[in-house]
Amino acid sequence: MKLDADSQEIERLRDELRKHEHQYYVLDQPLISDAEYDRMMRRLQELERTHPETVTPDSPTQRVGGAPRSGTGTVPHSSPMLSLDNALNEEELAAFDRRVHELLQAAPEGRTPFRYVAELKLDGLSMAVRYRASQLAIAITRGDGREGEVVTENARTIRSLPLSVHGEFPDMEARGEVVMPRPAFEAVNHQREIEGLSLFANPRNAAAGTLRMLDSRVTASRRLDYYAYYLLQDGQPALDSQWESLDTLEQLGFKVNPHRKLCNDVGELLAVIREWGALREQLPYEIDGVVVKVDSRRQQEALGSTAKAPRWAIAFKYAAVQVETELERITVQVGRTGALTPVANLRPVEVSGVTVSRATLHNMDEIERLGVAEGDTVLIERSGDVIPKVLRVVQQGRHRRFFTMPAECPVCGGNVVREPGEVAYRCVNANCPAKIRETLLHFASRSVMDIDGLGDVIVDQLLTRELVRNPADLYRLTVEQIEALDRMGRKSAENLVAAIAGSRNQPLPRVISALGIRFVGERTAQLLAAAFPGMDELMAASEEELQRADEIGPKVARCIRDFFADAHNRAFVEELREAGLQFRFHSPAAIARVEGVAGKTFVLTGTLPSLSREDAKARIEAVGGKVTGSVSGKTDFVLAGADPGSKLERAQTLGVRVIDEAEFLSMLGSASPGD
Ligand code: IVH
Repeated sequence: MKLDADSQEIERLRDELRKHEHQYYVLDQPLISDAEYDRMMRRLQELERTHPETVTPDSPTQRVGGAPRSGTGTVPHSSPMLSLDNALNEEELAAFDRRVHELLQAAPEGRTPFRYVAELKLDGLSMAVRYRASQLAIAITRGDGREGEVVTENARTIRSLPLSVHGEFPDMEARGEVVMPRPAFEAVNHQREIEGLSLFANPRNAAAGTLRMLDSRVTASRRLDYYAYYLLQDGQPALDSQWESLDTLEQLGFKVNPHRKLCNDVGELLAVIREWGALREQLPYEIDGVVVKVDSRRQQEALGSTAKAPRWAIAFKYAAVQVETELERITVQVGRTGALTPVANLRPVEVSGVTVSRATLHNMDEIERLGVAEGDTVLIERSGDVIPKVLRVVQQGRHRRFFTMPAECPVCGGNVVREPGEVAYRCVNANCPAKIRETLLHFASRSVMDIDGLGDVIVDQLLTRELVRNPADLYRLTVEQIEALDRMGRKSAENLVAAIAGSRNQPLPRVISALGIRFVGERTAQLLAAAFPGMDELMAASEEELQRADEIGPKVARCIRDFFADAHNRAFVEELREAGLQFRFHSPAAIARVEGVAGKTFVLTGTLPSLSREDAKARIEAVGGKVTGSVSGKTDFVLAGADPGSKLERAQTLGVRVIDEAEFLSMLGSASPGD
């Protein structure tokens, strides 16, 4: 029909919308009103509905997110995404500068003109985006630096990330930082509070959580931003200097942070670092420092990299922000184990753009160490997280009130005791509602059974309506029961029931940590699951048998024993079995002990030819070996790859056996993870 006229209009609308998106999201200079933009967008959507065959992946309508993806995949990076060494003060920066000059003196490239580029160090997560034939093809998180998670659908919803690039680099890769601006962060947390979900501790975690969502429509509903700082082609820097790269990225349509400066020497660097430090509070996003990079690519190459970080760049870190405020009251929170944690209730104060009104005081010893009382003015520090810490008393209040631990639990009135040799005071009532509440929240939390949508508001209602007494009851809840709760619709009730049912598939280590045994967190639960074939063997194990498992000492062994000796706990475990939870290790062969590896301690160093660090670690652990971070007399093997660093030297000094990947694989025989 009138496709010709329509397709012309479609093209025109797309161009217009792209231009205005760039003006609004990249340049922060809108030229038209939001209403006008929405009108054009609706018109384009209407036309595309009439002519679906005209829809292209880079149409501005394609940023809304699509159906949830089922899982995640990883792909290798075109070249490693390294991290940066830190300079924590001006002297350390000066030392970096001296080292750069010394190293360049030895190299002929050292004589070309020398400059640094200073950029803000944005506090988010890094992401690589690759374009093929000018179109956004794939977006990958940093992951372990060698390979990352594919997040293309979610990245497409970031309005400041171009879906297509114009100009001379149709096949290129940009690397940069995904951040969540402070206002978006506050909005997300506010919403989560209403929904009873746990809050994000800081914008960085919120950005990471949002970028890695399975449902890109949720990503689209939150505002993320992308700032590019690195331009590559085939895994190599595309241009001869960093400064030129930043300008080119900007021309290609990327958002590049305007706070960037060419500096001739360390004196100029220090001047901009101080200048930006003063600006820090006013920026709409969080930064944690300034990245300093040698500008010339040839000089960068001459300086090279270690396995972890380039020698041509360093991150200058700003000190955490500290402010003074009044400590109005000290209240007490009761945790899952019954521990009473004193909490400082502060006169609300703004710390780097976030309103802070509470800080943890950890325990009674800490209160005594600080010598703090209600009414005092205290110095608090926020180092990225929303919950700050109290550093010291600045001025004692005129009417000080000293805090004492209550003798009775503030929640249930039960007895409070302090076991000899323990710091914490605990409520001893096994049926204390606070303990039950925290046990349920722990059970549902992301790193345990990962039940999406079961936050504190819902848990509180389930408890007051006596629908649950312990986590096993969750598996008996019906859609009708949940739908009857406040602010719950049919759909969310169905989702929650599905999420609870889905958690039945969580593997044994998570089920073990879900039990809430003291000292048995994620890692210990994994070690236990590797040492025992299933829950029954774990329950039946004696203290001696438990201690034979890796890293399980007498204290933990006793706690596990005590837990399973208790009749209530045994009944609880039986209820979980009836609910259908995983009581056996998923893949019995995966814990088959391989002679020569089982029980041995490995240290990994350098880059292996085919295995990533995670793979190597998983393979060692799967056959009963252990991986630690540093070489000591207890190390059995150092598995070394390219650019091994100081661990190799230490292994040689200590006479620890060093093996390469080939030797390692032959030790494993045919064993591979997940067999
Ligand atoms: S350059 C080899 N530039 O800081 C190049 N990184 O600690 C390494 N970051 O993983 C990265 N702003 O996530 C670079 N302007 C910037 C940055 C930046 C933030 C992050 C990035 C990196 C981490 C390194």
